Amino acid sequence: MNKIYVIHENEAWVEPLRAAFQELSLPFEEWFLDQGVLDFSSEPPRGVFYNRMSASSHTRDHRYAAEYTSCVLPWLELHQRRVVNGSRALRLEINKIAQYAELGRFGIRTPRTLAAVGRDAIFSAAKQMEGSFITKHNRAGKGLGVRLFHSVDALESYVRSALFEDSVDGVTLIQQYIKAPEPFITRVEFVGGKFLYAVRVDTTLGFELCPADVCEVGDAMCPVGEAPPAAAPRFEVIEGFDHPIVERYRKLLAANDAEVAGVEFITDERGEPYTYDINTNTNYNGAAEQRCGKSGMRAVAAFLGKELRRLEHGRLDAAAD
Ligand SMILES: Nc1ncnc2c1ncn2[C@@H]1O[C@H](COP(=O)(O)OP(=O)(O)O)[C@@H](O)[C@H]1O
Ligand SMILES: [Mg+2]
Repeated sequence: MNKIYVIHENEAWVEPLRAAFQELSLPFEEWFLDQGVLDFSSEPPRGVFYNRMSASSHTRDHRYAAEYTSCVLPWLELHQRRVVNGSRALRLEINKIAQYAELGRFGIRTPRTLAAVGRDAIFSAAKQMEGSFITKHNRAGKGLGVRLFHSVDALESYVRSALFEDSVDGVTLIQQYIKAPEPFITRVEFVGGKFLYAVRVDTTLGFELCPADVCEVGDAMCPVGEAPPAAAPRFEVIEGFDHPIVERYRKLLAANDAEVAGVEFITDERGEPYTYDINTNTNYNGAAEQRCGKSGMRAVAAFLGKELRRLEHGRLDAAAD
């Protein structure tokens, strides 16, 4: 029997998806890809594959889950399996500079960003920034390494301290800090390559490890990240969100086999949107969804179910081999 296969490494994030599959009576199997053997000469099972591998998998003790997935996806693709969020999507997930290159290709503005490898390189990159800047990991998720600095000195003392944590790929990004007049970011969700909704995330209390202004302590390093925020961030689905950036995101995601994704931007004081994060492993906020009566995971399950039916009716290439 054809099934939906879910590639992931975090049980907690898959729970709402399991519930949605059950609601829609869809057959599925999970591939928990933290370790394993791939027999590259074998043939994969038939089905629809949904890749939910996360950039932050190494923080859950799954150091090579993304690398393992980067072997499994080309194998599935070689056999023309229907893969949702394929190799190209994974490449973006684990490399922010690769995201920015794609954003640039599609004419979408990103904050000025320098990629630095090595501590001295981090300092010299910081010296090239005008005004406040943030650091972040090139392979991130969860706000890893995100800190706000107002001077190179503050950065130097942080990098020389025991608090400094290098990106798992060794690439630290030094990025222009976008000061939003109102403390929020916008995340635009896509399912099945189509716009689903945009959600406004209040960053007053910190967004994951957000470098919100509230965390500023003069020139010292941003303390957020040492302790969890005092309260959860507030998410609000925006009614009737209509912005020209949506169509650009849609095209970029289509060109990168990223059919399920959330893209984040911040708007600065002049009203210019700066896009800084593409998440091909996206999660949805339950409370916000309840308030507006929408469900991202249900939409994902319904889309995968539709792809499974197309496969069964021979309208996908997968039955060819
Ligand atoms: N250039 C920036 N200027 C201001 N705030 C930023 C900037 N980049 C990131 N942030 C804040 O930090 C959060 C985490 O950064 P992000 O790039 O999304 O990393 P991750 O991939 O770990 O989620 C963002 O949601 C936003 O609130
Ligand atoms: Mg983010």
